[in-house]
Amino acid sequence: MKILLIGNGAREHVIFETLARSKYKPRLYAVVGARNPGILELSEDFTVGKVTDADLILSFSKKKNIDLVVIGPEAPLEAGVTDALEDIGIPCVGPSKSAARLETDKSFVKNLMEKYKTSGRIVSKVFDDADELCSFIDSFGKPVVIKPLGLTGGKGVKIVDPKLDGQLKSNEEAKKYGKEIIEKGISGFNKALVEERLEGEEFTLQAFTDGSVVKPMPLVQDHKFAYEGDNGPFTGGMGSYSDSNHLLPFMTAEDRDAAIKVIEEVVAAMRKEGITYKGIIYGGFMLTKEGPKILEFNARFGDPEAMNVLPLLETDFVDVCQAIVNKKLSDIDIIFSNMATVCKYAVPKGYPENPVTNQKIAIKNLPKDARLYYASVDKRQDGLYMTRSRAIACVGVGKTLEEAEKIAQAALTSIDGPIHYRSDIGTRALIQKRVEHMKELRNEAKN
Ligand code: GLY
Repeated sequence: MKILLIGNGAREHVIFETLARSKYKPRLYAVVGARNPGILELSEDFTVGKVTDADLILSFSKKKNIDLVVIGPEAPLEAGVTDALEDIGIPCVGPSKSAARLETDKSFVKNLMEKYKTSGRIVSKVFDDADELCSFIDSFGKPVVIKPLGLTGGKGVKIVDPKLDGQLKSNEEAKKYGKEIIEKGISGFNKALVEERLEGEEFTLQAFTDGSVVKPMPLVQDHKFAYEGDNGPFTGGMGSYSDSNHLLPFMTAEDRDAAIKVIEEVVAAMRKEGITYKGIIYGGFMLTKEGPKILEFNARFGDPEAMNVLPLLETDFVDVCQAIVNKKLSDIDIIFSNMATVCKYAVPKGYPENPVTNQKIAIKNLPKDARLYYASVDKRQDGLYMTRSRAIACVGVGKTLEEAEKIAQAALTSIDGPIHYRSDIGTRALIQKRVEHMKELRNEAKN
């Protein structure tokens, strides 16, 4: 069997590694935007080009007689690469352009959830008129979150929280930022989304779906802020952890079931609209004192969250992919091992706003149980260089979170070069803070 992967980040590196573990020993090919050394090492052949270039992907697929395509990032989904491949009979793990609007157009999913009154909704409104946006924020009166409508790699979101460096200090600043989005047309839309700022703990629930059946993966908590203690600007995600029982230390099984219900309801709502959503669905949630509320959907694995779940997948990933494209997910059990994981990203200093570019790094004395997944790096004749974004994901898998965190941290310290990372991700101290925070909120709700 020949499988083509599209994408070149750490998420795609772990997807490729998981496919390579298959008992079917698939022959692996890749279309990459950059020469990720981890992906290139696993691929029988590859081509470098734009991952949104459907013509390039189609001609490479035909030339190599590809049987199945797995799409990693959102940009090819938005560009309609799935539709183009399926039109010539090549099945694709990834939603169609229309279904991917779940991620690529935030107003689409807001309207869908409103129409079907699905659970987990929050107060949110889309504006294309700056005056209306300002009056809404004034009359709402409570702190808000402002988001551009399209794809920004997680970096366009700003929240009103005077306690946080690098975020908005007041609703007045939120109005200014909302106006700027509408005027400049960030991410392809002259529209801004205003949401209520929720109090709680964020978490990620990813699931496989064939359009009818939803099979959840272990829960993960990502860390979006650039600096320790959750300060600084938003990033694509600085690191993440998952626990051995597949819950998170601040969550109950009931919280998880409520989040699964949100995803099931949205997949069912899409079906009612005549849209089959198949592939990976990602729910970004806030656990509030009233339960999980949806912040965003993504139409793909999370990055870094893929690095937490895929190393634990015991079921053959090729079987999972086949079940997705053949609409047979109900026929297979999907098993993840009961291990904890911690992922920490090494990024260039100054990331995300002013990353120092083209810095050389070297990996020395990597602990043997650590896993490294390459992201924005460039392998040149004279060594490995960071480009401008997240560079290497360092992952520890262990029986406990403590064990996993130690491995991930040791892997980070084996990288020699001008890197920045968050040491606090996955540590007992930070996790305990999350647990206490949720306890306080739940107590408030009781009193
Ligand atoms: N970790 C956030 C994302 O993948 O969008």
